[in-house]
Amino acid sequence: MDEVQGARTFAVAGTTYDSFMGRYSLGLAPEFCDAAGVAAGGTALDVGCGPGALTGVLVARLGTNSVYACDPSPSFRDGCAARHPGVDVRLGSAEAIPFETGTVDHAMAQLVLHFVTRPEQAAREMARVVRPGGSVSACVWDFDDGMEMLRAFWDAALSIDPDAPDEARTLKFGRPGEIRELFASAGIERIEESTLAASSTYSSFDELWNGFLAGVGPAGAYCVSLSDADRDRLRGALFARVGSPVGGFTLGAVARCAVGRVPG
Ligand SMILES: C[S@@+](CC[C@H](N)C(=O)[O-])C[C@H]1O[C@@H](n2cnc3c(N)ncnc32)[C@H](O)[C@@H]1O
Repeated sequence: MDEVQGARTFAVAGTTYDSFMGRYSLGLAPEFCDAAGVAAGGTALDVGCGPGALTGVLVARLGTNSVYACDPSPSFRDGCAARHPGVDVRLGSAEAIPFETGTVDHAMAQLVLHFVTRPEQAAREMARVVRPGGSVSACVWDFDDGMEMLRAFWDAALSIDPDAPDEARTLKFGRPGEIRELFASAGIERIEESTLAASSTYSSFDELWNGFLAGVGPAGAYCVSLSDADRDRLRGALFARVGSPVGGFTLGAVARCAVGRVPG
């Protein structure tokens, strides 16, 4: 398949992603499954699975043979398949989901919609693969102040560079009503919105900082694009933003979630 634009900054190993964002995905996934009503006996598709945080929770609840996954990043597809042997993990985007029509009870996209180039097409595709009456769900970090790591990073960046590409300015679906509106445009019904919480504990500031140096996602890509001098200034500004920690510390995160039903 052609390279998917939103997957460009996710061409990394699963362990690299985990040190930056996957550490939050792990805690978010059970909450997301609860919101979507995932329970034993059902089948589910993880759209934009990354290296498989949500896939793993789905396997624990539904069993290997009832879980499907796809991602346009070859390294993430391979990483997810290696972590969850037996799960049918395919290379593919949300806009062209590589699974049959009406086959699963739940189509779920965790932290994906804001990277999708054609979200309306993605919502239609998610609805297409779900059986009538099944659920379509998505969650995205709250952009205002719900994701402490990203908010602290972009506030630090903006304090140095007013034109820094703050995700809260450049991406969509992190505000109330945005996922609902998208789902409604795809004919999805009975949409309910909620918020989900996650957190991650760091043993030191360097553990946090090293996550950005991996170049993952918009924040990582921006961080590694800077000159050494500017990156040092950013490091200092971020250190101050997270309270100049001398030891371990925990950052919280809130995601906006919407769950709807396919008519029928
Ligand atoms: C922040 S990661 C989330 C990964 C995983 N769902 C999780 O919760 O950790 C964003 C994911 O979206 C994927 N992605 C980017 N563009 C996409 C698209 N058009 N369709 C489906 N997935 C896409 C990336 O490859 C990456 O795996």
